[in-house]
Amino acid sequence: KKPKVTVVGSINMDLIVKTGKVPNQGETVLGDSFSTLPGGKGANQAVAAARLGSYVSMIGSVGNDEFGKSLINILKEEGINTNGISISEDEATGIATIIISENDNRIIVAPGANRGVTPSVVASHKELILESDVVLLQLEIPLDTVVYTTELCNENNIPVIINPAPYQALPSKVINLATYLTPNDIEAEAITMDTILHTIQEKLIITKGADGVAFYQGNEEATVPGLTVEVEDTTGAGDTFNGAFATKFGSGASLDDAILFANAAAALSVTKFGAQAGMPTEQQVNDFLKERDLAK
Ligand code: RIB
Ligand code: NA
Repeated sequence: KKPKVTVVGSINMDLIVKTGKVPNQGETVLGDSFSTLPGGKGANQAVAAARLGSYVSMIGSVGNDEFGKSLINILKEEGINTNGISISEDEATGIATIIISENDNRIIVAPGANRGVTPSVVASHKELILESDVVLLQLEIPLDTVVYTTELCNENNIPVIINPAPYQALPSKVINLATYLTPNDIEAEAITMDTILHTIQEKLIITKGADGVAFYQGNEEATVPGLTVEVEDTTGAGDTFNGAFATKFGSGASLDDAILFANAAAALSVTKFGAQAGMPTEQQVNDFLKERDLAK
């Protein structure tokens, strides 16, 4: 079954510079290439889910500018329902400055219009939430909105997956109400320092890049192994994982099948430059799993 996934989250334009050398404080260096590509954790997760066959709606906000128009069009071309995206007159479209050098990427997000994704904006699109099989959240929009949306989902028995990135401490009620939390290993450490681990361990799905994914089945620790691929750009790998996991989980797959699938989708995504370019279709993920003898 094709699940309905609603993403409440950020939409950014990624301004990417590739450079051989990252400048030190006070230093200017000559870099290599510059690219302008669609990004934002929310939008990336929406695109990943849509490519994998989910019906996706996005609740977000862009500025009344060229980046905003172009980002909405890109989402529409992916078949995403953009009725929940408002256009802010006060703030510019969010951008991410991304510096990519060998084995490293550094990102600064200027949220701009993403700050306008307030609880009342989500309330005004409540119908999108209520008809969802699963709702996906990240932390590039106001924390109030994450709290509000999580509570709204919970009151209506709608599963909610929270990708705690970029990391901020989450109120404990959010952690308690989330169906799953999908930190990377650095974020997971922060969460478990902020929380009493055993109360939430069953909700944790920890993505570790090339080292695979760690999670719990009941009290048992489980892992899905990492997949070796030729890495072009890891930007958006976590987002691909989340969009893919939401798609499989929302269509009723078991937890370990959904994680295996999402891990493979994320591995494929890093083989292309840019957050969204390498996001695979369902067929591509299934072929890849077969190729690696992991198909079920
Ligand atoms: O997760 C990757 C994303 O983080 C980038 O697309 C960038 O926009 C930042 O939000
Ligand atoms: Na990529």
